[in-house]
Amino acid sequence: MKYDFDTIIDRRGTDTVKIGRLKELFGKEDLIPLWVADMDFETPPFIRKALEDRFRHPIFGYTIAFEDYWQSIISWLKYLHGWEIRREWLTYIPGIVKGIGLAIVHFTGKGDHVIIQPPVYHPFRMVTERNGRVVQNNPLIWDGTRYQMDLDHMEDVLKRRRCPLLVLSNPHNPGGCMWSKETLADLAHICYKYNVTVISDEIHADMPMFGNRHTPFTSVSQEAAQVGIVFGAPSKTFNMAGLVSSFAVIENPQLRKAFYGFLHACELDDPTLIATIATHAAYSQGKEWHRQMLDYVENNINYVVTQLPRLIPLIKAPRPEASFLVWLDCRDLKKAGIEDIPGFFTGAGLALNDGSMFGPGGEGFMRLNVGCPKIILEKALEQLYDHYRSIIC
Ligand SMILES: Cc1ncc(COP(=O)(O)O)c(C=O)c1O
Repeated sequence: MKYDFDTIIDRRGTDTVKIGRLKELFGKEDLIPLWVADMDFETPPFIRKALEDRFRHPIFGYTIAFEDYWQSIISWLKYLHGWEIRREWLTYIPGIVKGIGLAIVHFTGKGDHVIIQPPVYHPFRMVTERNGRVVQNNPLIWDGTRYQMDLDHMEDVLKRRRCPLLVLSNPHNPGGCMWSKETLADLAHICYKYNVTVISDEIHADMPMFGNRHTPFTSVSQEAAQVGIVFGAPSKTFNMAGLVSSFAVIENPQLRKAFYGFLHACELDDPTLIATIATHAAYSQGKEWHRQMLDYVENNINYVVTQLPRLIPLIKAPRPEASFLVWLDCRDLKKAGIEDIPGFFTGAGLALNDGSMFGPGGEGFMRLNVGCPKIILEKALEQLYDHYRSIIC
């Protein structure tokens, strides 16, 4: 079956963040929304059908998380990443960011330092600070096309200061990097040495592009398995973020007992009816849709990374290794007198994420979401080019 990724779906009237917060955050509404990290493709028909079938029954009472739901997660991780996990390693969490918040509350105390590696998905910082913890930045190093981790700096920090927790974006949002097995093992080695628990947020893991492969953090070494907690979800991959279905995987029995005990005590490990149905449908019926979606998004990425620098050579658009976010290096726009880079994009009628929101090192970058019908990207690039010409001519 050929799935449809080309149709433009009108999302107005659905309270979607991508459109509903344009005025508040960008000052106007008539912008092409290429920001929030969900896709503009329809949630796959087999997921909608599974929910519709259940919704036909008139009672939505307390529901058991059926065994096939858990098994579908286990099978998917093996199918896609060759990662074999055991049923007891797995539990439900009510969203990845909420899971990170819960881990911060559980593993750290007020005033403790939590390591993050900016520029990185901004809720890592927000959840830390909102809970009265202190962000310890270990900035990533940009090599012109991708980021590298500065593990020497991290070790220097850990020699001086106790940091009980590190939150890792694997693959990396916004940079689109897939961390290598070696990098993850080196990171795990340091964290093991200094007794740092690692939350590896792997929400973008199922979208490796251009033949890359994802490496689950805890799979890289014994040390990683001791210190690591992996968070995953079908929400990005199958465009069902609003259904709130995520999971955690912990191999280390002591870590599991502590964290899962805490979740269980608060019944936060109890999946909702829609989470189980949608996740099971995604993972048990989603292989073909997933393959076609990756092909479509790869094609969109290729279009942007070749066309955009051709139209505006001052913007660099390196190809991401994973997911549907392209991290545009726009710093050279200043050479053309364009000082307000986010304002340049808004002026062109586009809503992208301003790189500075992701923390130090993000200034001058913009994050472009290409998970949409290609025709929208074509229009966006046309508008951007016209705006650029109107400024520099
Ligand atoms: C790296 C990363 N983690 C977590 C999330 C959000 O996950 P959730 O909606 O499950 O909290 C996002 C969404 O953009 C993300 O990019």
